Amino acid sequence: MTDTRLDYFAACTLGVEEVLADELRGLGADDVEVGRGGVRFVGDRRLGYRAGLWLRTAVRLQERIGVAHAADEDALYDFVRSVDWRDYLTVEQTLAVDASVRDSGMRHSKYAALRVKDAIVDQFRERSSRRPSVNVKKPDLPLKLFLQQDEATLYRDLAGASLHKRGYRPIQVKSPLNESIAAALVLMSEWDKNSPLCDPMCGSATIAIEAAWIAADRAPGLKRRFPFERWPDFDSDAWSELLNEAFKRMRMADIPRIEVADRHPGAIAIARESIQLAGLRDRIHVHHARLDQFHPAERPSIVICNPPYGERIGKRDHELSWRDLGDFLRRECPNSTAYVISGHPELGKFMRLKASRKHPVRNGPIDCRVLRYEIGEWRGDDAEEASAES
Ligand SMILES: C[S@@+](CC[C@H](N)C(=O)[O-])C[C@H]1O[C@@H](n2cnc3c(N)ncnc32)[C@H](O)[C@@H]1O
Repeated sequence: MTDTRLDYFAACTLGVEEVLADELRGLGADDVEVGRGGVRFVGDRRLGYRAGLWLRTAVRLQERIGVAHAADEDALYDFVRSVDWRDYLTVEQTLAVDASVRDSGMRHSKYAALRVKDAIVDQFRERSSRRPSVNVKKPDLPLKLFLQQDEATLYRDLAGASLHKRGYRPIQVKSPLNESIAAALVLMSEWDKNSPLCDPMCGSATIAIEAAWIAADRAPGLKRRFPFERWPDFDSDAWSELLNEAFKRMRMADIPRIEVADRHPGAIAIARESIQLAGLRDRIHVHHARLDQFHPAERPSIVICNPPYGERIGKRDHELSWRDLGDFLRRECPNSTAYVISGHPELGKFMRLKASRKHPVRNGPIDCRVLRYEIGEWRGDDAEEASAES
């Protein structure tokens, strides 16, 4: 294996690709190439570690092992056998293979994954009569096969579990915003990281936590254990240096005023716990308040929020929440910029504000828009004058 030019792929939510590409350029990646749902890039091993440690908007991070034409299962098997797997794992270690198959002679992803696994374990068995075993939950070597139009690309996954799992969410909450999308909203907003930021419908406070970590220059992967730490070619010196640098860069004192609110006591309890787990106690000000009764102590210059839009609660309740959000922005946030993620084209109009930009983003199964609003100086009659369009 050469250490000079490795090909990587970082996957992300649809709509976040450009933000991820910017993050990668900032980390020093070469040949950054934006695709649908991810970004390809090139760099050395250290860059891969750096990406795992610092990427906020990626969900997966993979290093390419090889690529080959594989029109049938034998060709796939031979391709995988042609790799010397002693470079990637020891016989005592475990592996797992996940496959995605599209427009190819082999149509079943599970079967393709099985052939990859067979080729690897057969190679070990023929050499030493022993073989690595499979562990789908926490493998030492998570592998990903993409088989598209009979082209097989095999990657090893540097992160294992999705990178959005930062470790600060105490429980799975209803309608959460995935951490990587929350970070993307903050990065998209071009927030200067110094001025007050507010999320008045904070739920579990994901947006505020991601914003605080961005302002503090806190690496999202600082406390994560990565599969690559167990790989035969792991460069522990490079990794220790990167961790030390990340610890040194962290400046919790640089976090500006961040205020959040929610009307739901359960959400507030989870928000408080998440904030604590994220090491941000006393750095994010939490209010248990309805929008119409929430008065941030400092005027926010950026508001980022994720109002309700799913099917769970009645439609009327959603409409009222969006109306109250519009009123809140006019009343409490003059001269600010607001970024509001909406999963329903009809709801934005209840804010009675005109969006200056709309950016498509996928949140789980829902096609959403990030709506940008420039909130002017409130004169009292603008609401009625403003276009009903969101
Ligand atoms: C989609 S959730 C936000 C999820 C959040 N982004 C997260 O990551 O957990 C919408 C939140 O808005 C809150 N909400 C709705 N209407 C509200 C209102 N009028 N005042 C305050 N909070 C409200 C709900 O309680 C809910 O927690």
